[in-house]
Amino acid sequence: MKLSYATSPVRSAKTDALVMFIPQTADALRKQLAPLRKVFGKRLDTSIALERFEGKAAQIFTLHTEKKLASPRLCLAGLGKPSAITLESYRRAAAATAKHARSLKLRHLTFCLPAGDVSPEAVFSAGQLVAAIAEGAALALYKYDAYMTETEGKNFRLGEIVLLGSKGAQEKACKEALRRTRIVCEAVCLARDLQNAPGNAMYPETLADSARASAAKHGYRASIWDKKRIEQSGFGGLTAVSAGSARPPRFIILEHNGARKDLDTIVLVGKGVTFDSGGISIKPAAGMAEMKMDMSGAAAVIATMEAAARLAIPVHLVGLIPSTENMPGCSAMRPGDIITHYGGKTSEVDNTDAEGRLILADTLAYAKQFKPDAVIDLATLTGACVVALGAHATGMMGNDEGLMRRLTDAGLETYERVWELPLFEEYEKQIKSDVADVKNVGGRWAGAITAALFLKKFVDNYKWVHLDIAGTAILEESLPYAPKGGSGVGVRLLLRFLEQWKTA
Ligand code: BES
Ligand code: MN
Ligand code: ZN
Repeated sequence: MKLSYATSPVRSAKTDALVMFIPQTADALRKQLAPLRKVFGKRLDTSIALERFEGKAAQIFTLHTEKKLASPRLCLAGLGKPSAITLESYRRAAAATAKHARSLKLRHLTFCLPAGDVSPEAVFSAGQLVAAIAEGAALALYKYDAYMTETEGKNFRLGEIVLLGSKGAQEKACKEALRRTRIVCEAVCLARDLQNAPGNAMYPETLADSARASAAKHGYRASIWDKKRIEQSGFGGLTAVSAGSARPPRFIILEHNGARKDLDTIVLVGKGVTFDSGGISIKPAAGMAEMKMDMSGAAAVIATMEAAARLAIPVHLVGLIPSTENMPGCSAMRPGDIITHYGGKTSEVDNTDAEGRLILADTLAYAKQFKPDAVIDLATLTGACVVALGAHATGMMGNDEGLMRRLTDAGLETYERVWELPLFEEYEKQIKSDVADVKNVGGRWAGAITAALFLKKFVDNYKWVHLDIAGTAILEESLPYAPKGGSGVGVRLLLRFLEQWKTA
């Protein structure tokens, strides 16, 4: 889908539907629609009243313009009560309009950028509004239809979205915002595609191929370790988890600005389990299919690397992805097994379904060699995190307040919100092992926390944050601009975080 900026007059904009944003006040309806009232006369207000349009959040009203405008339709998109209008209100209103337009099989949609005095208390820059509107619309229109062969199921493509604004100083800022938004949205959709791909197509080798292809296309580095290299390097966790699978594991190392010694180093770690059956501690059948998305952390890391390279974000960014299936084959790891991880620490496997932490342990220990200024891991790690926070917040745990503050702020801005859970040392006794340095499960209570404490054992003296995206990456129901399935969560959050790294 094409995203573009135009400055033509509203009346002559050639499009299938022209959209205006309206806050929920009688005053806004009166003032904002004054110019249109000159065009449509009484009919406008009667129609609005008949349709009960008040400007409620994501409410949509459509008027047939009967050739009074070049556009055959005028849509009003509600923003909700003025005091509650945020950039998220614009994302959602744009998303609702875009989905409505698609259902009408429209091909071309034009959003009018709100003029200055729309919401006095909430002043957003034109660039911020452009970004929010384009983001909401573009992400809402995503659909995974790679395997749909019949036209009925195939996604109808809304081909172009135009943002209609003014000329002059604003124009440059808006075009720049749109350029960034295009790259960000393409990255989110890449992450979603990788997540939604079925396990018979997306396995460690093909995940690595996707990363390699992205790196080659967008000018960052990729190196991929095969099974032999993984074993020889002492990645005992990744080796053990992959033992029950016919498909070999991969370890993916990505690097942007690798040669720039002057830049800070940030390491992103993504859990890349391409299918999690649970292994010998096998999962129940219901819901197992969604475990094809147990590589959502990896998807977010690859997509973030791609966008960071395209946006030339000035950090030395490293992406580390341990990738494997978790299968119950005849050579699979057993409950009771003891693993020696990279770096030499050992863990007792009490439940083979707690596999994510085993592969992340090697990777977090390995991350040390990059002398990172920060390490952030993303993993669909625990069902307990889904129980705690559902789909509306990512669980955050870590060892550095400043780093967590930055992620919290980036979360509020992008609406990929994170929420901190405590790593009190009292929880540690739950993962004490009688036979190894640590045990891979911590019992029934505080499962997201004990999983993070397991990871913390392998974090070596660097600033670290763990993001448990189990509830936010895999959606059981659609959200305003994310259909059910893979959400691509983490990409917008990390990109905002990385762009703000050097500020304050
Ligand atoms: N991949 C799962 C966690 C998960 C659950 C992600 C639901 C998304 C939705 C992870 O590998 C797992 O199986 N965790 C176990 C840990 C337990 C055995 C300690 C869990 O949460 O049940
Ligand atoms: Mn598991
Ligand atoms: Zn898993």
